[in-house]
Amino acid sequence: MTHAIKIAPSILSADFADFGREIQAIEAQGADWVHVDVMDGHFVPNLTFGPPAVAAFRKHVKTVMDVHLMIAPVDPYIEAFAEAGADIITAHVEAGPHIHRTLQAIRATGKKAGVALNPGTPAEAVAHVLDLTDLICVMTVNPGFGGQKFIDMSAEIHTLRRMIGDRPIHIEIDGGVTPETAPKVVAAGADVLVAGSAVFKGGSVENPEPYGANMRAIRASVQRMAA
Ligand code: DX5
Ligand code: ZN
Repeated sequence: MTHAIKIAPSILSADFADFGREIQAIEAQGADWVHVDVMDGHFVPNLTFGPPAVAAFRKHVKTVMDVHLMIAPVDPYIEAFAEAGADIITAHVEAGPHIHRTLQAIRATGKKAGVALNPGTPAEAVAHVLDLTDLICVMTVNPGFGGQKFIDMSAEIHTLRRMIGDRPIHIEIDGGVTPETAPKVVAAGADVLVAGSAVFKGGSVENPEPYGANMRAIRASVQRMAA
């Protein structure tokens, strides 16, 4: 299964004055998806982008725009992020009492629906919404900032893979992914790796090769594990 691993760089670690060229650079260097972290200063203690910014990113994304909503309430904004051009919209199970309704609302826009779990939330929280879900995002940091220390959620990932069975659901890992931490989560059943600081470190739009080398290092780490 490791050949199907996708890397989704988080543009939270990009140059905020140059998103268009940063997105082009990570895609040219081999990114599978582009991960966009939307934060509201309420659900998480940080602020990032609203729908107009996401619509501007869309013009540069040729792969898949994976929009991670760390906002509460979330339902009033789903339509706007769908119109902004998200391919996948992920909402947190902790963001409100009605994750089932939220996932229905995302599916109703025609977009893929993701559900995210904070490290303190057990896998069982998504047991009743698996048939409304295309992706489960397992947070391996407490959301809000890039560059935090990885929290090992391998046991929960195993549990989720068992719960998912043969449903076509991605398990995405978000937070602290590096060549050292990636093998563990992939062995447990993850197939999409979000990485911010580990992809962008050492590179820039003028010097984008480190982005490619950093992504190759993550891919190589999970392939070594499979060998
Ligand atoms: C955290 C965000 C992540 C973050 C990952 O709240 O959801 O996507 O940018 O950053 P790194 O890879 O630096 O931990
Ligand atoms: Zn994220």
